[in-house]
Amino acid sequence: MEDIEHIQKEMKLIDGKGRRLDGRKPDELRPVRIEAGVLRRADGSAYMEWGGNKVLAAVYGPREAHPRHLQDPARALVQCRYNMAPFSVTDRKRPGPDRRSVEISKVISEAFSSVVFKEQFPRTSVDIFIEVLQADAGTRCAGLTAASVALADAGVPMRDLVASCASGKIDGVVCLDLNKDEDNFGDADCPMAVIPRTGEIVLLQMDGHLTYDEFQKAMSLSLGAAQRLYELQRDALRRRYAVTLQDILKESPPAPMVAGPAESEPELPAEDDFGSEGI
Ligand code: CDP
Repeated sequence: MEDIEHIQKEMKLIDGKGRRLDGRKPDELRPVRIEAGVLRRADGSAYMEWGGNKVLAAVYGPREAHPRHLQDPARALVQCRYNMAPFSVTDRKRPGPDRRSVEISKVISEAFSSVVFKEQFPRTSVDIFIEVLQADAGTRCAGLTAASVALADAGVPMRDLVASCASGKIDGVVCLDLNKDEDNFGDADCPMAVIPRTGEIVLLQMDGHLTYDEFQKAMSLSLGAAQRLYELQRDALRRRYAVTLQDILKESPPAPMVAGPAESEPELPAEDDFGSEGI
């Protein structure tokens, strides 16, 4: 225990120039890439790389809720299963649900419950699956942001996309989007998710302590990042669904303007084939 405290005291997470271990400034997001529609069997899907995180999200529904006693006659259920692959972390993670994944699944379902138009789909369930393939802190935010794109890809009616990013405190400085070392050896981590169009917060958690002013700063960093993520989410959906003129032409080649040469006309069967009387 003393050893760990010694390492924590010695470990500098921010250098003299104000740069973090990975070279980022305090308000800098890790590189983010989102692809929509990556799985053929699911109704909607998305893949996301966010710094060292690699996350896959799949959505089914709205479909009849099972078991039937769970059905709500007035609205759809929004259910989420967040899972970490055994190979997603340095020490192999024991497969299956644990307390942490049950908690993350719950807070993500609740975040999406407030945007999906549940009343339009009574007795059904919208099922969201999040698989973390590689983890580097911030996986609930990455999962939520990717699942939001997967929901839109599945065509589930909702008020808006949800974008999520954490901020925290390292070496006494409030920073955006902590990576694993910063999360492990930092002072606080505060993930949040927002509906970017309205600014409504749909998830807010805190690990560690922040003063009121630090919290205000963390909130403003995360809200700014959510707007950038929102752009990337919409861009992924645009890339998936944008139809170019070339695509349209490929689907239905235009009719030739001038009558083609004689050989392009359909050949009529020789009269002999059917006899002189025809068919
Ligand atoms: O991933 P997120 O920040 O949303 O949740 P966390 O509980 O704060 O976990 C932070 C990080 O710890 C994860 O992203 C993983 O990189 C790591 N972790 C791990 O190495 N082994 C676990 N069983 C759980 C988390």
